[in-house]
Amino acid sequence: MLVEKNIPLQDLNTFGIAARADLLVRVRSAQQVCDFATSPCYSGPHAQARPVLVLGGGSNLVLSGDVVHAVVLKMEIPGMALVHETAQHRIVQAGAGVRWHDLVVWTLQQGWGGLENMALIPGTVGAAPVQNIGAYGVELQDRFHSLDAVDLHTGRAFTLQADQCAFGYRDSVFKHRAAHAGDLGLAGRAVITQVRLALPKQWQPELGYLELQRRVEASGLAAPSAQQIFDWVCAIRRAKLPDPALVGNAGSFFKNPTVTEEQCRDIIAREPKIVHYPMPDGSIKLAAGWLIDACGWKGKTLGRAGVYEQQALVLVNRGTRANSVTGGEVMTLARAIQTSVYERFGIRLEPEPVVV
Ligand code: EPU
Repeated sequence: MLVEKNIPLQDLNTFGIAARADLLVRVRSAQQVCDFATSPCYSGPHAQARPVLVLGGGSNLVLSGDVVHAVVLKMEIPGMALVHETAQHRIVQAGAGVRWHDLVVWTLQQGWGGLENMALIPGTVGAAPVQNIGAYGVELQDRFHSLDAVDLHTGRAFTLQADQCAFGYRDSVFKHRAAHAGDLGLAGRAVITQVRLALPKQWQPELGYLELQRRVEASGLAAPSAQQIFDWVCAIRRAKLPDPALVGNAGSFFKNPTVTEEQCRDIIAREPKIVHYPMPDGSIKLAAGWLIDACGWKGKTLGRAGVYEQQALVLVNRGTRANSVTGGEVMTLARAIQTSVYERFGIRLEPEPVVV
């Protein structure tokens, strides 16, 4: 466990916001997280305990102030291994600090498909279950087996199975705070240290997403391999989403909102071109990128915060390293977009990244 004071965070969040942390603690093992829970840096669930910000790749984070007063717990737990096999699955385990994309690449190098649709998602393995990452028709929960975490209130390690994680669309038990004893909610309490995924031995391609279907048709391949799908997903993402190494951003800035069938009919009557997808539970998901685009925000700039030219759902840093966007500017732009979308469509967009 390495404790550092007054640390610049600009290189530790993909938006490139130049905030600082009062206290940053780097951990490289589950034992170090247990040690942290009982250390003077953190004093447990008491009133005087400082809040903790668990930081992975910082790719789903907006630092809204100049200083983060929470203790920043930087997850650097390494390691990837095959830990178990059943008749149907290979169980692969990775440390919370492993880059998600490195895990996708490593599994494909072993010849194990299953994660290819989620290629190039920024961030770490430990952050993946928190927001149930997903792309091109596959979500983490479709491949999830179990995870290990440490309870900061007790300093003890524990294991959760899929049905204990309350996975939903960009949602899980790790995103919610328990207000009362017995409430579902592990935010600010559980620190994920290891994640296990179940990769199917009888691999089947997942090609339901329209842009992947188009690629299949254009290629003429009857049965694309996992590697081929990986290459297509990388190409699609590179064309549409900004590379955080070049343009600061936190991926999709808003969740795609869901409405009832009746609300959707009403909107379609006014906006026939609205992009919408029926969900298995009967609700309708609307494309937030389309809503923002329709309000004329694509490519716009407010202060040093901007709306990406290729995908209106992504807000970007238009500042420079020395003169970076502030969290305040990002949130001002986000609120202006929310107001426009609400005034035109009557829909409230909810931010997708964690705002601290
Ligand atoms: N659209 C527009 N204008 C835009 C952007 C999108 O009209 O500026 C339309 C597109 O034409 C398309 C629809 O909106 O018909 C949906 O767009 P897209 O396929 O790009 O997907 P998305 O719904 O915007 C979601 C995820 C992404 C994920 C992609 C692919 C969320 C919040 N975002 O984006 O995840 O990569 O689907 O599965 O669910 C992330 O979470 O950070 C992320 C990038």
